[in-house]
Amino acid sequence: MQPFLWLSFFLSPLTYRLGGVTDPKCRCTYGQACWPSSSTFSQLASQLSQPLIYPIPPESACYPSSHPSGNCSAVLQGTRDGNWRSSQSGSMQATNFETFIFDNGTISACYLNTTLGIPCQQGSVPVIGVDARTVQDVQAGVKFAAEHNLRLVVKNTGHDFLGRSTARGSFLLWTHNMKNISFNDTFTPTGAPASEQYNAITLEAGVQWHEAYSAAEANGRLIIGGVSIGGSVGAAGGWVLGGGHSALSPAYGLGVDNVLQFTIVTSDGQHLVANANSHPDLFWALRGGGGGTFGVVTSVTYRTYPSAPVIGVFFVANTADNATLRSLYTDYVRTTPALADAGWGGYGYFQPNGLSFAYINPKLSWGQANTSLDTFMNSAMNLTGYGLDIQAALTVPFPSVYSWFSTIFAAGVEQVGSNIEIGSRLLPRDVVVNDVEKVVDTIMSPTLTSMNPSWLLVAGGNVSKVDPDSTGLNPAWRDAIVHFAMGVGWPDGTLATEIQALRGRVSQALVALNDLAPNSGAYLNEASLYEQNWQYTFFGSHYEKLKSIKHLYDPKSLFVVASGVGSEEWDDTLNCRK
Ligand SMILES: Cc1cc2nc3c(=O)[nH]c(=O)nc-3n(C[C@H](O)[C@H](O)[C@H](O)COP(=O)(O)OP(=O)(O)OC[C@H]3O[C@@H](n4cnc5c(N)ncnc54)[C@H](O)[C@@H]3O)c2cc1C
Ligand SMILES: *[C@@H]1O[C@H](CO)[C@@H](O)[C@H](O)[C@H]1NC(C)=O
Ligand SMILES: *[C@@H]1O[C@H](CO)[C@@H](O)[C@H](O)[C@H]1NC(C)=O
Ligand SMILES: *[C@@H]1O[C@H](CO)[C@@H](O)[C@H](O)[C@H]1NC(C)=O
Ligand SMILES: *[C@@H]1O[C@H](CO)[C@@H](O)[C@H](O)[C@H]1NC(C)=O
Ligand SMILES: *[C@@H]1O[C@H](CO)[C@@H](O)[C@H](O)[C@H]1NC(C)=O
Ligand SMILES: *[C@@H]1O[C@H](CO)[C@@H](O)[C@H](O)[C@H]1NC(C)=O
Ligand SMILES: *[C@@H]1O[C@H](CO)[C@@H](O)[C@H](O)[C@H]1NC(C)=O
Ligand SMILES: *[C@@H]1O[C@H](CO)[C@@H](O)[C@H](O)[C@H]1NC(C)=O
Ligand SMILES: *[C@@H]1O[C@H](CO)[C@@H](O)[C@H](O)[C@H]1NC(C)=O
Repeated sequence: MQPFLWLSFFLSPLTYRLGGVTDPKCRCTYGQACWPSSSTFSQLASQLSQPLIYPIPPESACYPSSHPSGNCSAVLQGTRDGNWRSSQSGSMQATNFETFIFDNGTISACYLNTTLGIPCQQGSVPVIGVDARTVQDVQAGVKFAAEHNLRLVVKNTGHDFLGRSTARGSFLLWTHNMKNISFNDTFTPTGAPASEQYNAITLEAGVQWHEAYSAAEANGRLIIGGVSIGGSVGAAGGWVLGGGHSALSPAYGLGVDNVLQFTIVTSDGQHLVANANSHPDLFWALRGGGGGTFGVVTSVTYRTYPSAPVIGVFFVANTADNATLRSLYTDYVRTTPALADAGWGGYGYFQPNGLSFAYINPKLSWGQANTSLDTFMNSAMNLTGYGLDIQAALTVPFPSVYSWFSTIFAAGVEQVGSNIEIGSRLLPRDVVVNDVEKVVDTIMSPTLTSMNPSWLLVAGGNVSKVDPDSTGLNPAWRDAIVHFAMGVGWPDGTLATEIQALRGRVSQALVALNDLAPNSGAYLNEASLYEQNWQYTFFGSHYEKLKSIKHLYDPKSLFVVASGVGSEEWDDTLNCRK
């Protein structure tokens, strides 16, 4: 057989069926005898606003023998662009999640690097799905998956760092094209007294941050959202369900702190309103209990704020001198709590020979902002006498957050379209204040330095002022000041054993971070798939309550994701109950 014919061979139900035996404890996956026939799928199609979709790895376009209609130039042009990737139903932002590693180490993948000579295969990309545009589409898809006991995945943008928006042999519910945005400056949550009014924005499930930001800007409003190049992260999906951090969080709270109301389709196909008055238990759980777990959110209503000017700070410095680097890191860590308290938020990166960060502050005037940075800037200036080369250290006023975002993050190469896995810890304020030396030792340890550690100043300030038990979110967020993350990457074609070794290095780094902050937790949206005690690490003391709410709204566990609430009842494939 010619290698390029492999994909179509692989996709033929006949061959796929070889491994498949219908087991009542298991979900039905593609290729098994239980998989719905095409006439059954046609019945589903007749209830939908759009034709069914047949996702394929986008890289398949570069395998013309098996995919003659594909446009490989478009793939090469878009592969590192988060917005292009999210427009492809079969794509994940990190390409490794499109692949599937068998127990014997064989990898089913469709690598962009065709030079490797490995035939294109479907990997973990779902085989069929619903391109949802309406609530009715979502209801039809959910009911169909429940009725036929299918392995269901919900995908919005595919940014998930634990690969939870894709699964081999699954049925896809794709929310990407649910794009409506509406404003209401006298929004009253369903069931609340008419006197309770908010200035609010309602986003359908597929809206992405760049779309929400430009709509808010056009209305003179500010919304609290995620930040990435191109703004391709979803504004009403996994981001908020997992917590949702922003450079504005120290000043305005997390995503979950700004939600007024969700609408959601639950596993029985009902469309519910979840807010403080209507299904308050579900409302609690949706704010931090994780994506793909409680149902399919169809819209999120956030409070908005008046658009306001911000001060940005940019700092970039390098040194070949280890002692100087250590002093710089020490000053940086030491001044962090005061900066969060002053309303600064943003992103810092430790490079093997340097440090860079970009923060913003919506609370201070330019002069006040400069003063609040004096302690750090003066110590950095002093270090120029000890070999520190400061390439940038400046504050810049912007007329709005949107102008900051569109100046800095409008375009460029995102950290997407490559193979990457990460690990992280929320660092408690206590640790950052009292264990500065140990924090710096950890950052500079050989295990960490090679893993691009980042220092995300997205907690503290007003994130810490919210009652930890008022939402389902991991309480560790409320004590934290910094979300500390690092990662590993590898080229296409890397062997399973080598990938395993890289995962081992992430685990090793997590041991060091656990030692630094023993009882803290991690942000489940930007974390490792291989946490030893993910229930505690991702959900803390809220786990049991989240699980009981999960069982109430999804009694048959239609919604199962890796390291998600209730997922310990399933085996490693997440297809069969233990
Ligand atoms: C480049 C990049 C930048 C990032 N920047 C930030 C940031 O600034 N702040 C931050 O907090 N995080 C950030 N993240 C992490 C981000 O929050 C997670 O990747 C999150 O899972 C993205 O959600 P999504 O809906 O866009 O992605 P998806 O991968 O499509 O979905 C993620 C999870 O949510 C579920 N889900 C999606 N939509 C729904 C829905 N409508 N109903 C129910 N479940 C749903 C999916 O099943 C999956 O489990 C970033 C990630 C990347 C790759
Ligand atoms: C293929 O994609 C490229 C880049 O996006 C585009 O310029 C070109 O017109 C496309 N070709 C076809 C045949 O669609
Ligand atoms: C590994 O397992 C897969 C799935 O069972 C099979 O298709 C493949 O041939 C196996 N590879 C080797 C080298 O045994
Ligand atoms: C593709 O793989 C080949 C063979 O391993 C390698 O030499 C080449 O550098 C890779 N190309 C890219 C763009 O990664
Ligand atoms: C978008 O939402 C608004 C307000 O709910 C509604 O009036 C409008 O019809 C919606 N548009 C679409 C295309 O659904
Ligand atoms: C705003 O919301 C209120 C109730 O919350 C509703 O009565 C009103 O019609 C909405 N206005 C718009 C413009 O959608
Ligand atoms: C927290 O929110 C309050 C009320 O909006 C605001 O006055 C205060 O400045 C915020 N704190 C920080 C650190 O930004
Ligand atoms: C710098 O310090 C790190 C550990 O702190 C060490 O691994 C590395 O070898 C040192 N480099 C130099 C040039 O001294
Ligand atoms: C300047 O840096 C040196 C070396 O780190 C330190 O000993 C000294 O106290 C610093 N001076 C000031 C004013 O920060
Ligand atoms: C703040 O600092 C910048 C340099 O980073 C300087 O250009 C600016 O004049 C200062 N602004 C005020 C109001 O002090």
